[in-house]
Amino acid sequence: MNPKTIIEPFKIKSVEPIRFTTREEREILLKNAGYNPFKLHADDVLIDLLTDSGTAAMSAKQWAGIMEGDESYAGSRSFYKFEKAVNNITNMKYIIPTHQGRAAEKILFSIVGGPGKYFPNNTHFDTTRANIEFTGSIAEDLLTEAGMNTQKRADFKGNMDIKKLELFIKEKGAENIPLCFLTVTNNSGGGQPVSIQNIREVKELCSKNNIPLFLDACRFAENAYFIKKREQGYQDKSALEIVQEMFSYADGATMSAKKDALVNIGGFLALNDEELAMKCRNLLIVTEGFPTYGGLSGRDLEAVAQGLEEVVDEHYLEYRIKSVEYLGNKLVEAGVPIIEPPGGHAIYIDAKRFLPNIPVEQYPGQSIVCELYLEGGIRAVEIGSVMFGKYDKKGKLIPSIMELVRMAIPRRVYTQSHIDYLIEIVLEVFKNRDRLRGYEITYEAPMLRHFTAEFKPIN
Ligand SMILES: Cc1ncc(COP(=O)(O)O)c(C=O)c1O
Repeated sequence: MNPKTIIEPFKIKSVEPIRFTTREEREILLKNAGYNPFKLHADDVLIDLLTDSGTAAMSAKQWAGIMEGDESYAGSRSFYKFEKAVNNITNMKYIIPTHQGRAAEKILFSIVGGPGKYFPNNTHFDTTRANIEFTGSIAEDLLTEAGMNTQKRADFKGNMDIKKLELFIKEKGAENIPLCFLTVTNNSGGGQPVSIQNIREVKELCSKNNIPLFLDACRFAENAYFIKKREQGYQDKSALEIVQEMFSYADGATMSAKKDALVNIGGFLALNDEELAMKCRNLLIVTEGFPTYGGLSGRDLEAVAQGLEEVVDEHYLEYRIKSVEYLGNKLVEAGVPIIEPPGGHAIYIDAKRFLPNIPVEQYPGQSIVCELYLEGGIRAVEIGSVMFGKYDKKGKLIPSIMELVRMAIPRRVYTQSHIDYLIEIVLEVFKNRDRLRGYEITYEAPMLRHFTAEFKPIN
């Protein structure tokens, strides 16, 4: 027999209680948080789907690694373990630890960025875009049309549009494009995967123009599992083999280990170019620390090394991808508009279709995020005009292309009954959608405003 039920591939050894609150309590808590769930105390959240970043449950072996950590300032044994584990997946020559993904981005773009430079990507994540723009460079998203269509079901909606990339290189000049990026999976575009074929085609075009290709590799293992399931010729390859092939087309990578390395903190830069690696290491010493710890403790490096091994386990990956798909399919069956097909780490509600009566200037995504908390203590995040909106010279909002609400699923943290509860809450909010209100911003920071913005409901 081939059982249909996919079970969590672990037993639970240690548990953390979650706190139940009433709707009345949550109304006060949310108001005090300026209607921005980023500002809530985590203890006041029942199911926290704000992010899948740094929220994973570590394994017994990772916790054992924490005890094994060598805290020597230079040449720590844990660094060499970490280096070997990163090398095993990337096969890159220079491995530079950083305290998280954006630290790797900051170092890289401080060196290769600057005014007059352009960086294409399928879709830049917000910190990547911010680190590029901070240097005066331009960050450009070149996603395929299919990737931008939230209703279209396609296998690889994270793919870069090769024609757009070709045109972009012609227009901007290859000499002004220090690197091309591919984000796997494409977080801001719905957690959608990128195919090997697309990686290969992007690489060919980049090579022709002497542009190095980098992976934003946060969710490399989830991407590989989609390739195994969906791309012809990959069914019999192991997830690790697919991962290694993905990286074989890249000249470098930035990684937030807080995702697919199954840890709570960590990241790295992986490079093949010696001169660039030397420059990055020199800057690392100024901003992060000595090159064999780079902003991490020895125990963190141990946990990353172990996590990178565990994440390519196919029982884990099957459970991971299938549990997100389970949530997505239940919502679709009930008519809730989400990005289809479900992505790897999160379900993205299409707020424009969920709340067609609330104009983008009143942030429909924020309205859903607030209601999910009020209805069931669930914390999700707006990925739309709050996160990516800009203003024109007259102060009018230039909205984001998509208005989404992301419910990111932490790795190995919640069980199926948590997910069933979540489904019940989303359906209740959907049923009562006509009662939802728009929001206006009452405070915002000049960059990455979604983290600290404050709102007020529009009556
Ligand atoms: C695709 C992508 N790139 C970069 C980052 C930044 O990583 P970190 O949060 O570790 O700085 C993230 C984090 O969510 C991400 O999803």
